[in-house]
Amino acid sequence: MPETITTTSGGGDFHRPVMAAEVVVGLVTDPSGVYVDATVGGGGHSRAILRALDSRGTLIGLDRDGEALREAVALESEFPGRVILVRGAFRDLSRLMDQAMPGRDSRALRGILFDLGVSSHQIDMADRGFSYHQDGPLDMRMDRSNGVPAAEMIARVSEADLAGIIRKYGEERGARRIARSICRLRDRHGLSTTEDLRMAVADTGPSHPNKTLARVFQAVRMQVNDELSQLDSGLNSAIESLPTGGRLAVISYHSIEDRLVKVKLTALMRGCVCPPRMPVCGCGRKPQFRSVHRKALRASREEVAGNRRARSAVLRISERIRSDAII
Ligand SMILES: C[S@@+](CC[C@H](N)C(=O)[O-])C[C@H]1O[C@@H](n2cnc3c(N)ncnc32)[C@H](O)[C@@H]1O
Repeated sequence: MPETITTTSGGGDFHRPVMAAEVVVGLVTDPSGVYVDATVGGGGHSRAILRALDSRGTLIGLDRDGEALREAVALESEFPGRVILVRGAFRDLSRLMDQAMPGRDSRALRGILFDLGVSSHQIDMADRGFSYHQDGPLDMRMDRSNGVPAAEMIARVSEADLAGIIRKYGEERGARRIARSICRLRDRHGLSTTEDLRMAVADTGPSHPNKTLARVFQAVRMQVNDELSQLDSGLNSAIESLPTGGRLAVISYHSIEDRLVKVKLTALMRGCVCPPRMPVCGCGRKPQFRSVHRKALRASREEVAGNRRARSAVLRISERIRSDAII
């Protein structure tokens, strides 16, 4: 059975949901349907979706972070009998959805949302180790009951592999220089706090220190939480589970995750892939999904003015239009 979440909510300024109105308009096509918020966080998007549903509409809220679920538990009393909270990661999405609604009619599933990255709460809590603005233990795990904290990952990794991580997940040109500086500090004094990592990066004298720090912290976080592979599995499960008419909404905050989302969806929206010289189609391939909007959506200027997190958000919403074996 999925872990049951029982603690009551603290409320407060946990996280402000990004593009919540756009998500609701694009995702909710049937107010009596079942919706999955795969990144429930503080429950902001979930609450907006639930408000758009009628008394039969249900929401399954998933997060790998126990603290997020303890906040989101307030939804259970706001919408009695209509919210199921589950702790787990994208990789187990299919199994967790089955467990949350055993024997459910798969056609009832109308929409799945992924609001990627970390919540403001995770960043704001110094002891979670996500932020270079505050000193704290270098942890960065979204699920603190699992996996290897960032300090331990850095203690074990080779300089070359660390440079590869910073280049791949941070798209940072100075990756080799930064990895050398981190490993030098690690080998001389040990590296266990966000301040240690910040100093190792600052020692390389970057011309835009905050941008470089953001890239390096993002890269380490993505490695610690295995974010791209988690996203890839989560999207595959979501795509497989959605029946015809079901919608998938994904909000990405940087180009690496948005690229993965875009490439996967573009492949599903493509029809015939026969070479142009073929007189008739031999592949039989038909588009499985369509994009709900002509272009990906960005947050409005007003929203960005009130919430800096929204400035990099890219929202893609797609709808399953058929479920063929050939995809
Ligand atoms: C940007 S926050 C979501 C905020 C939420 N939409 C709200 O309105 O409060 C992203 C959340 O997704 C969770 N998360 C990220 N990757 C995950 C994964 N692979 N599996 C499960 N949860 C994940 C994080 O723990 C975090 O709480």
